[in-house]
Amino acid sequence: MNISIIGAGYVGLSTGLVLASLGNEVFFIDTDKEKVKRLKKGRLPFQEPLVEELLRIGIKNNSVKFDFTYSGTIPKSEIVFICVSTPPKVNGEADLRYLKNAVKEIAKNLSKKFITIVIKSTVPVGTAGWVRKFLKRTGKNNVAVISNPEFLREGKAVEDTLMPDRIIIGSDSSRASKFLIDLYNPIVKQTFENIIEERSDDEIPLVLTTNESAELIKYASNAFLTTKISFINEIANIAENIGADISDVARGVGLDPRIGDKFLNAGLGWGGSCFPKDTRALHQVAGNSGYMPVLLKAVIEVNNEQKYRFLHKIVENLGGEVSDKTIAVFGLAFKADTDDVRESPGIEIINRLEEIGAKIRAFDPMAVENAKLLFKNRNVELYKDPYEAVKTADVLVITTEWSQFKNLDLNKLKKLLKRAIIIDGRNLFNPAQMKKAGFKYISVGRK
Ligand code: UGA
Repeated sequence: MNISIIGAGYVGLSTGLVLASLGNEVFFIDTDKEKVKRLKKGRLPFQEPLVEELLRIGIKNNSVKFDFTYSGTIPKSEIVFICVSTPPKVNGEADLRYLKNAVKEIAKNLSKKFITIVIKSTVPVGTAGWVRKFLKRTGKNNVAVISNPEFLREGKAVEDTLMPDRIIIGSDSSRASKFLIDLYNPIVKQTFENIIEERSDDEIPLVLTTNESAELIKYASNAFLTTKISFINEIANIAENIGADISDVARGVGLDPRIGDKFLNAGLGWGGSCFPKDTRALHQVAGNSGYMPVLLKAVIEVNNEQKYRFLHKIVENLGGEVSDKTIAVFGLAFKADTDDVRESPGIEIINRLEEIGAKIRAFDPMAVENAKLLFKNRNVELYKDPYEAVKTADVLVITTEWSQFKNLDLNKLKKLLKRAIIIDGRNLFNPAQMKKAGFKYISVGRK
């Protein structure tokens, strides 16, 4: 099929490059000329396993093309995916500026033939309805609008696109739904070749529904996951007060298949480009619809509070004053296996510590370059070597769940640190073993 992808960001590139690898011809349109130039040379604007490889293959076999105008591509396309960002406004609502611009540009360039517009960006309920009305008003009737939310995780973009847990198609046009079902057939049937070794044993479930339900499924999924994390963090705080161990508690709770063991890691809470934005947006949408979302409000509050509790632990363990202290922080990315620092709990901790006068020496396996942009002219030194970062530091603070941190040479760390204290916001180590290794070790929800 001939496909256009509007927005060559995380979701757009991962989706488009996977679709190209399945035998489609894919045009990417992005208004950022620099990005388009780099992509044409096979260079990604972010780090993500397998995506760069797919980009190189797509360029080599001519199945992907990049442009910053709509006129050359839209008239040729059978399907147009909208994958632009929907950043938060000050009040938490999703800002639909980029999406609306994309729709206007698509409308200007539509030919007479039937075309399916697929909204992949995370958008408030009612957005597909708005797009449909807008197109009707401008006299474009041979168009269908589908809501097809994206559930991929950063660091696992290609696997999640090829082996999703489900595919949601919200539509009021059976003709357009059929197009999309055909497009996704190699994924649903797990018959794609060569890209990754693994395959799901079962067919991927397809949920056919209305646009509104599809839009709400995306928000509800992310909100449920944030609820799960905030819930376990609340239990961790209770565990800490009463002397229980949250790792054992989470394991015991998660073994109930109705609950499940995923997303029960207590710690510093959730961050990133999606969870905070989407949870706040759903909270705002609910308020606008006349419903006060009591649970969502608490989920957000627990997540904010979690970082302050952790800060308190750092200050307390440094004798109540940090202005004369140097603090090594391991973890700048919002989670492991990504260089993304957006709404990273680690960055938030560094900002607050710096505000109260601490000197920071930070390390991250992938995110140092991105963090440099945030810490220009600041009292924060960034290191690409963990042992360099801890030199002369009074304490080591862990803020991201990188598995590499578990393999660090503890003896070496102890020698380099001024005091053998580790404050772990991701519960990476076993408290008894750390005690044996000679550290004062403080974590979340454990003695
Ligand atoms: C998340 C969802 O997992 C995806 O399904 C969704 O498609 C995506 O948002 C999106 O809406 O685009 P992602 O932001 O890549 O994906 O990150 P996650 O792996 O979900 O982690 C989010 C945050 O939760 C991280 O800060 C992580 O450290 C934290 N987390 C995760 C915990 O604190 N505890 C856990 O048990 C799990």
